[in-house]
Amino acid sequence: MFEFRSELFQGDAVLRAIADDEVVAGVRVRISRMQNAQDPAVLKVQTALLDFDSGCLPVHGADGKYGDETAGAVRRFKIEVLGVPPAEVIDDVGPLTVQRLDGIRADAEGPTPTPTLAVRRDVWALEQADPANPFDAITFAYAKAVQVMQSRPITDRTSWAYQAAIHGSVAPQPAGAHWNECQHFGWFFLPWHRMYLHFFERIVSAAAGNPPGFALPYWNYDRRNTLPPAFNTPRPLPDGTVNPLFLTAPQRAAIYVRGGQLPATVTSADAALNMANFAAPPDPGFGGGPVGPAHFMRPPAIGGLEQTPHNVIHGQLGGPFDRTCASALMANPNCAALDPIFWLHHANIDRLWNRWLAMPGHANPTDGGWLSTKFTFADETGAEVTMSVADVLDSARQLGYVYDDLPTFSLPTVSPPQPPAQPPELIAATEAPLQVAGDTAATMTVPDGAAALFESLVGDGRRVTVNVENIDAQAAPDTDYAVFLDVPAEGNAGHHHIGNLSFFGLDKMNDPDQPHNGASSFRHAFDVTDVINGLRNLGLMDLSSLTVSFEPIRPIPPPGEVGLALEQAMPLTPVQIGRVSLFAG
Ligand code: C2O
Repeated sequence: MFEFRSELFQGDAVLRAIADDEVVAGVRVRISRMQNAQDPAVLKVQTALLDFDSGCLPVHGADGKYGDETAGAVRRFKIEVLGVPPAEVIDDVGPLTVQRLDGIRADAEGPTPTPTLAVRRDVWALEQADPANPFDAITFAYAKAVQVMQSRPITDRTSWAYQAAIHGSVAPQPAGAHWNECQHFGWFFLPWHRMYLHFFERIVSAAAGNPPGFALPYWNYDRRNTLPPAFNTPRPLPDGTVNPLFLTAPQRAAIYVRGGQLPATVTSADAALNMANFAAPPDPGFGGGPVGPAHFMRPPAIGGLEQTPHNVIHGQLGGPFDRTCASALMANPNCAALDPIFWLHHANIDRLWNRWLAMPGHANPTDGGWLSTKFTFADETGAEVTMSVADVLDSARQLGYVYDDLPTFSLPTVSPPQPPAQPPELIAATEAPLQVAGDTAATMTVPDGAAALFESLVGDGRRVTVNVENIDAQAAPDTDYAVFLDVPAEGNAGHHHIGNLSFFGLDKMNDPDQPHNGASSFRHAFDVTDVINGLRNLGLMDLSSLTVSFEPIRPIPPPGEVGLALEQAMPLTPVQIGRVSLFAG
């Protein structure tokens, strides 16, 4: 089927049929003095002919009728532009004429004008350097909107409380309300949160009186790893009112309120950005595997970005877990969106999706089921609105915003070739279940024979994955864990961070009212191909045994404080792990 480029020709049934050389009732569709001579398509053809030569219809002009003058202009077009020999030319409008006129018309129309795009900016770059007044215009507008939204009753869909409850709520859900709908542990995570943010941004903008140029800021914690000043100062807003962006302990983790820094194991999105595919295979993918839609389900197919930095940022900023929204807001999906920093965290996650897509070879899934799945939100008038995943894949064109550090780009239309599916081979695994509470190491002995197979698979460029399987904890374990692959080597040369074990939403997964797919535990997979290749290149790869170790993520204490390891400050709830395994392929 021919793709029209010009707006004028698009959607015209007669021109479409001619361009595709369709036959109707035994007759080829054409425009001629006998066929379609007064159809609205005639005026469009005449308009395009005038683009080709503004003097080609001197008497009647574009009059919508296919008479002698138009037929003569078509004849001349075919000879001069299509190169038809004069003796063979007939003066009806056929496929080549329509196709070529479409191109001429498209060029005359010029590029489709781009509407002004909203720019989501880095909050640290926006905020003023003056610590006594960090409030720039955008952050101030956001703070004012939060005040307005917080003053609205929860029955109002544009209220702060209702918006947060869409994500999750500890309150009983009113009939018909779209609450507790956030999508986690799978491939709806990114599109659902993008829709959620988009409508929230519209509500915020309206609540602030639609300030020109307003867009939700984002927090790039990988660039500045402490809470942005406006979110961490008890000082009033410039108009003297209470700063609603400021929360203190225990609603936020005390160490970050005191100025502690997020460690790089938490803030770096590099591992996720380097993943080749959105969805498995290979496992894990950037955006999560096919699952759901469902609000926290097992078994998960969690994406790399969802795990790090997304989940671990939640765990860190919230702090020790609590089931109420009196503390640890960010650590609990039922409370997280009540913290104003939540939305800037998610703007950053959304930005990283665009960043991943802008890298060569990366593309979104093309699965029809994924694309057509719909979710419901509320807009700035309080009306319910529904969107499908296909509506939000291009943030600039479909939703009208870009990020300050990324070019406006077009989505790749072709998905990268999928690697041939080969069943992964089990190389090694731990023999007994283990319990993690504080620093813990698990050693896998590589059986005789597996070492040679492993060597050859790695040599063939196959992916290597560490799987942490059958993870179970009755309660969220108060900390996330950084996971390392250790091989015997001098100093730190053999100690490699491969990802994090996060528990954001574990309570929801344990909730018997949630759909669980029948499984009772979950797993995390870590792609360690690059680490393994690096070790081989250094000659460090001794394949008799491999150790995976778990360390509680430790915040970097604020200047002047000595770090007190979390596990020294409180007893940690143990995490059960059924098996740690190494697969290649
Ligand atoms: Cu649905 Cu960051 O949470």
